[in-house]
Amino acid sequence: MPSHDIDAVRLELLERVKTSETPRDILRAPEFKDLYSAIGSLSAEEKGPYGKSINELKQAVEAAVEERIMQLESGDVISLDVTAPWDVNSVRPAFLPTHEGSQHPLTKEMDTVVDIFTRMGFAAVESRQIDDDFHMFGSLNFPENHPARDGYDTFRTEEGFIPPAHTSTMQNRILQSGKDVLEAGGQIAAISYGRVFRNEDVDATHEHTFHQVEGVFVSKNATLGEMLGTLQAFFEAYYGQSLRIKTQPAYFPFVEPGLEIMIEKPAVLGGKAGEWLEMVGCGMVHPNVLSAAGIDPTQYRGFAWGMGVERLVMLKYGIEDLRHFESAKLNFLRKFA
Ligand code: PHE
Repeated sequence: MPSHDIDAVRLELLERVKTSETPRDILRAPEFKDLYSAIGSLSAEEKGPYGKSINELKQAVEAAVEERIMQLESGDVISLDVTAPWDVNSVRPAFLPTHEGSQHPLTKEMDTVVDIFTRMGFAAVESRQIDDDFHMFGSLNFPENHPARDGYDTFRTEEGFIPPAHTSTMQNRILQSGKDVLEAGGQIAAISYGRVFRNEDVDATHEHTFHQVEGVFVSKNATLGEMLGTLQAFFEAYYGQSLRIKTQPAYFPFVEPGLEIMIEKPAVLGGKAGEWLEMVGCGMVHPNVLSAAGIDPTQYRGFAWGMGVERLVMLKYGIEDLRHFESAKLNFLRKFA
């Protein structure tokens, strides 16, 4: 095969590489095979120089392919200027999907809840997702083998750890870490929030996994009245309107007295006058809970409350089934995007 054929193939292949999206394929172009198979028909003197030209051609194509690959890859780098105004970064490379994901509705609502309490002066700590018997029960004045323990349907790991069934598991930690502030004349004001787990049969109002937000306040003279005022202010901020609350007695080993707070379902959320919803378990922190954290119950008093976040959110948006939250159903999630 004459050498001008090799030159023609070279031009053709180099041209193809320049625009190829898959340049490596060109290294296996059929033209190479044709050039090699022509060697057989050449005279002994022609073979050497001819073979050399094919090798040179191959090297030139390989170099061009490498260059093209680098060019394609550098096109994939998105330059993101974190200091720039939003629209500078909003030019999206064509290969990225056009729709974006969004925060889960519970993440968003939890942020709102935490924000309201932190603006009131509460510090916020996330609760743990694995804990122990002491934080779940012992530190909270649940006697050993007391039937109140069964009320929480706790899961347990083989090692005896507990995925917490309420955010009250954080109370002892919050109280311990606030001791110095109390002794210096200050007060403890903190919320804990996060995922909790119960071994329950799942239906429209029960899930094995849900979220709670809990508050603890301790000072020299904390009162139930302060607690009710704090929670009413919270509900009014969260639902963006004034609403009525009332209480009824309830039993939790870690508070004395123990109460449940109910809110009157607002008319704009489909409520009829006199329709009350239980939202919060609460009360004055039991003296044994303060003692377990090294706080003298004759010197200090506290109040604590805990509530389910899903229930708050369901009321706000008229969501009828608790199971939607953990379902990962896009139809549901996109309504909140
Ligand atoms: N931990 C309780 C529950 O999950 C709620 C609660 C918190 C009650 C704090 C009183 C004080 O049922």
